[in-house]
Amino acid sequence: MNSPEELARTLEGAGYLADDGVATAAFLALRMQRPLFCEGEPGTGKTSLAVALSRSLELPLIRLQCHEGIDAAQALYEWDFPRQLLHLRALEAGSESLDIEAAEQSLYTERFLLARPLLRALTTAPCVLLVDEIDRADDEFEAFLLQLLDENAVTIPELGEVRAEQPPLVILTSNRTREVHDALKRRCLYHWLEHPDLAREVAILRRRIPGIGERLATQVSVAARRLRELELLKPPGVAESLDWAQALLALNRDELDVDTASRTLGAVLKYTEDMERVRAKLDALLA
Ligand SMILES: Nc1ncnc2c1ncn2[C@@H]1O[C@H](COP(=O)(O)OP(=O)(O)O)[C@@H](O)[C@H]1O
Ligand SMILES: [Mg+2]
Repeated sequence: MNSPEELARTLEGAGYLADDGVATAAFLALRMQRPLFCEGEPGTGKTSLAVALSRSLELPLIRLQCHEGIDAAQALYEWDFPRQLLHLRALEAGSESLDIEAAEQSLYTERFLLARPLLRALTTAPCVLLVDEIDRADDEFEAFLLQLLDENAVTIPELGEVRAEQPPLVILTSNRTREVHDALKRRCLYHWLEHPDLAREVAILRRRIPGIGERLATQVSVAARRLRELELLKPPGVAESLDWAQALLALNRDELDVDTASRTLGAVLKYTEDMERVRAKLDALLA
C-alpha cells in the first residue's frame, strides 16, 4: 500500500467509501504502525472502517466491544475454572496419592486458558484489532489498555510473557459520550469522522443497496442531512439512511413523498419526541 489514494481504492473494493481524511489517517496508521483513534457521532463509519480494513488487507479482524464494567478477564484471558475442576477430579480418581505440585502445574497450561480478544490479537498478529466504543469502558480499563498498546505484550503470571510478533493494526473508536484520556490519545493517531457529504452518502446508498435509483438515494440523503441539522435527540447516521432507503424499497416506493416519509419515519428516527417534531415539518424537510 503506497498511498492514501491506493488504500481508498482498496477499501472501496470492500464496500467502504473513504474520504481523503479517513484514507490518509488509516494509511498513516498502517505505515507508522500506530493505533488509530476514530471519534465521531454514531453512524459515521468508525466500526465499518475497521471491518473494511481487515477485509481489504486480508487480515483477520479481532473485535473487542467495550461496555461499562469491562475488565481484564473479559478483554484479555480467563482460566476455564469448570474444566480445571473436572481435570483435577479426574486426576484424583486416577491415582492413589496425588502429587499436588504436578497437579497444580497441569492446571495452569494453555489447555485451560480462555483467550479473550486482546490476547488473541497478540497471538494472531498480523491482524486488525478493533477496540470498539472505548468511551463505554471506565478509566481503569483505559489505563490497562494503554499498557498493552505500549508493549504489545502481556504477562500471564502462571505462563509468562505473551508478545506479538507483529503489532496488530489497532483501531479504537469512540462515540464521545465522554472524553478519553490524553494519555491514551497520545499513543494514537487521531481522526474525527464527519457524516459523509451529500455525494458520498448517495454513493454509499447506491453501493450498499442494489436496485436503488439515483433519485431516491439523493432524496433520502438530502432528507437525512436536513434531519441532522435539527438538533434531534438522536440524529440519523448513515445506518439510518440505509434503513430508510431499504424501508422505502420494501414498500415499492421510488420517491420520498410526505405520506411515505411519515409512515416510514421509524426507520430513521428512534425517539417519539423526534418523530413528533419532524412530522410537523415534513413538507419543508422534503421540499
Ligand atoms: N464511508 C462509508 N462507506 C460505506 N458504508 C458506510 C460508510 N460509513 C458508514 N457506512 C455504513 O453505515 C453504517 C453505520 O456505520 P458504522 O461503521 O456502524 O458507524 P459507527 O461505528 O461510526 O457508529 C454501516 O452499515 C456502514 O456500513
Ligand atoms: Mg460503531
